[in-house]
Amino acid sequence: MGNLDLMPRDSFGSKLGVIAAAAGSAVGLGNIWRFPYVTGQNGGGAFLLIYLMFILAIGFPVMLAELTIGRRAQRNALGSFRKLAPGKPWYMVGMMGIVAAFMILAFYSTIAGWTLEYLVQAVTNSFDGKTAGELKTSFEKFQGGTFRPLVWQVVFMFLTGYIVFSGVKNGIEKYTKILMPVLLLLIIVICIRSLTLPGAKEGLVFLFKPDFSKITWPVILDALGQAAFSLSIGMGTLITYGSYIQKDNNLPVTALQVSATDTIIAILAGVMIFPAVFAFNIDPAEGFGLVFIVLPNIFEQMAGGYFFGILFFILLAIAALTSTVSVLEVVVAYFSEELKMTRHRATIIAAVAITFVGLFATLSFGPLSGFKILDRTIFGWFDFLSANILLPLGAIFIVVFVGWVLGKKNVREELSNDGTVKLPLLNIFMWIIKLVAPLAIAMVFIYGLGLIG
Ligand code: PHE
Repeated sequence: MGNLDLMPRDSFGSKLGVIAAAAGSAVGLGNIWRFPYVTGQNGGGAFLLIYLMFILAIGFPVMLAELTIGRRAQRNALGSFRKLAPGKPWYMVGMMGIVAAFMILAFYSTIAGWTLEYLVQAVTNSFDGKTAGELKTSFEKFQGGTFRPLVWQVVFMFLTGYIVFSGVKNGIEKYTKILMPVLLLLIIVICIRSLTLPGAKEGLVFLFKPDFSKITWPVILDALGQAAFSLSIGMGTLITYGSYIQKDNNLPVTALQVSATDTIIAILAGVMIFPAVFAFNIDPAEGFGLVFIVLPNIFEQMAGGYFFGILFFILLAIAALTSTVSVLEVVVAYFSEELKMTRHRATIIAAVAITFVGLFATLSFGPLSGFKILDRTIFGWFDFLSANILLPLGAIFIVVFVGWVLGKKNVREELSNDGTVKLPLLNIFMWIIKLVAPLAIAMVFIYGLGLIG
């Protein structure tokens, strides 16, 4: 193996490709499955407001900080820290990211597998003629099984591995560019149907009218975790992708476009789900299964619902795929650059190991559903630990690193692209990443977990 600096690195081919790939990572089950279920459990409007504040004040700056690290270092999540701070323990942040990637993919692939099951159910017209109650029962029956959920998870991990296998540009970029806009359009169509259901208004009130009595520290921590999870920040995905972004890309604009797209899709997912939740008398705090129970009800009530249902689950699976690919890429980039494996070998080892751990997450809904630690199943722990603990913790270290170690001079150099990008807000950005974001995250963390008070 030669000097890494001399080897040509794979990179994204175009500006649109960069945005498509990064937005492809951000937009996924986090928006369409996780956002509605977490919002539903945390009481709606006030949660949404706090979530939006976190996206703006913390999520966007962290995203930009991550892209800065990656493009500056031209390395994987761990190697980047090693290169920018040689001989210092900062590479541990990268290590934590690799652990988070393992954990996220392990449980994410469970839900991604569900999208495939639902695609098949849509194709075979299985929602037709069922009442809301029957749709719920049939979901629970599938979810509680062993064989089918496991098979779908394995299939999904195989697809993920296959795309990562084919490399960044040919694999990741090609697919996202076309499909993301179609998904957005389809969500809007479904929103319209949901909004015109009888009783829909109550859902809008739930989603948009803040009831501040619902706000507690754990709710705030959930909002922070959801913001981090949805933007794909805090674990090195955007360091890794940043390392494939060309030197003339305007990173602040890219970060802005990606976080805006992600946020718009999450809100639209809320508009798609909550009116229907109330129209069909489903409990908004239903939990992990919420969207899978609600969506078939909407398709059933929709002109062309058979067709839209199929299209939706295809696109949802693809949105999930562009996210799982970005998570696996973190591990594969690390294995291949730091442990000097070939890309193919790295992909196989990572995908097989993660799939194995993931099986336990999937079985948490079936045979292992009684296995709980402190009231959470294995799946519940992976979900909670990654989103609410590892990502916010990673985010603190990332911004502190960029703010205090990399420093303003390097940040300006990296973001200004030889003076072609003006940075009028650089001082505010530095101030946020040096102090505001780390302190705010630390506070939410400490109070949200009940470490103090
Ligand atoms: N942001 C992705 C989603 O919303 C999930 C993800 C989290 C991807 C962390 C990468 C890193 O589906």
